[in-house]
Amino acid sequence: MQQVAMNLATEETSDWWEVEALYDLCFAPGRSALSSYRLREGIDPIAALCLTARDDNGILAGAVRNWPVRIGQWDAILLGPIAVHPTRQGEGVASLLMQRCLDLARADGWHRLMLVGDAPYYARFGFDRLADVIMPQPTNPDRVLGIALTPGAWDAVHGPVSRTDD
Ligand SMILES: CC(C)(COP(=O)(O)OP(=O)(O)OC[C@H]1O[C@@H](n2cnc3c(N)ncnc32)[C@H](O)[C@@H]1OP(=O)(O)O)[C@@H](O)C(=O)NCCC(=O)NCCS
Repeated sequence: MQQVAMNLATEETSDWWEVEALYDLCFAPGRSALSSYRLREGIDPIAALCLTARDDNGILAGAVRNWPVRIGQWDAILLGPIAVHPTRQGEGVASLLMQRCLDLARADGWHRLMLVGDAPYYARFGFDRLADVIMPQPTNPDRVLGIALTPGAWDAVHGPVSRTDD
């Protein structure tokens, strides 16, 4: 895989609509109907873990946002959306964003991070299927993946994923 020079930065308020436009471009129409959005609506993302990747001309190449969720008594990060502009895909931009998220989350004291996505892609970062963690319907359980940021952090975790204000 190529590795490009990208400037990663924390998403600012002024970036919001540009990131939304990138997500609209990269995801199928109706992305906000996905069940993961029910867990995010009306809840602030984790600001320190919302990142943009811009090239040397300042053009937005990729972005990632993260939200807090609960699984019973346990806190977790729900990563996503993550997207890279079609003209910049395959250059390692998502890998840079993902690695930075994982490093920052660890440094901020989070224990576990999950997402809904393609296991063949996310396995490279260390994600495994979370067999005992249930996302709101409709979600393919094979796409519910997690990574432990501290050893064994997912071992006892089980149950439905809920909003932090439930
Ligand atoms: C998925 C996505 C974020 C990857 O971004 P990217 O910057 O191209 O990813 P990277 O350059 O870090 O990695 C590219 C590698 O991942 C692979 N890959 C990308 N998407 C994949 C998928 N869904 N399943 C398996 N492998 C995938 C590529 O084939 C490439 O493989 P290689 O390293 O063997 O060449 C980007 O394709 C995208 O924005 N897609 C549309 C939105 C989306 O699906 N987001 C994820 C929702 S879970």
